[in-house]
Amino acid sequence: MAEANIQNKNNLFQLSPEGKEFVQGELSRYENKYSAIIPCLYRCQKENQGWVSPACIRYLSQIMEIPEAHIWEVAKFYTMFNKEPVGRLHIQVCCNISCALNGGRELADHLCQTYSLNAGEVSSDGMLTISRVECLGSCGTAPMMQINESYHENLNPEKAEQIINELRAKYGS
Ligand code: FES
Repeated sequence: MAEANIQNKNNLFQLSPEGKEFVQGELSRYENKYSAIIPCLYRCQKENQGWVSPACIRYLSQIMEIPEAHIWEVAKFYTMFNKEPVGRLHIQVCCNISCALNGGRELADHLCQTYSLNAGEVSSDGMLTISRVECLGSCGTAPMMQINESYHENLNPEKAEQIINELRAKYGS
């Protein structure tokens, strides 16, 4: 069985005992093991700074006995899988049509400027990443952003900053 801690030149991939158990459980859950790729990637991402690294793909490939290239295809297809590390608060600002018409793009620019970050960058304290993303399916409450797994809707710059600052205080302590 593959080791859950794999060091490569870029990163260390780790999976908790519960995470390993989860992967095994998903493997036996589906008739076709390929169906387990998405939940397993999601679990690995959650435990590894919010991203799927080459070491993560290699680990899953070994343990699931699925070619790395196939797991990469899935990870690359779905935007919910980050291919670079993200901050503890991953702020995804929707810039698609409904949000754009309601100030979503300006909101993303404003937040990048306020927190002195380029889109996709991790802040020096490891706390924030701001990403510009496509439609998150909440067009009726535009503009909106997703922070980790929560949606925040009907935003304006002040409201968005307040939400981020509150979460920063909460997760930074
Ligand atoms: S366009 Fe922003 S949620 Fe759909």
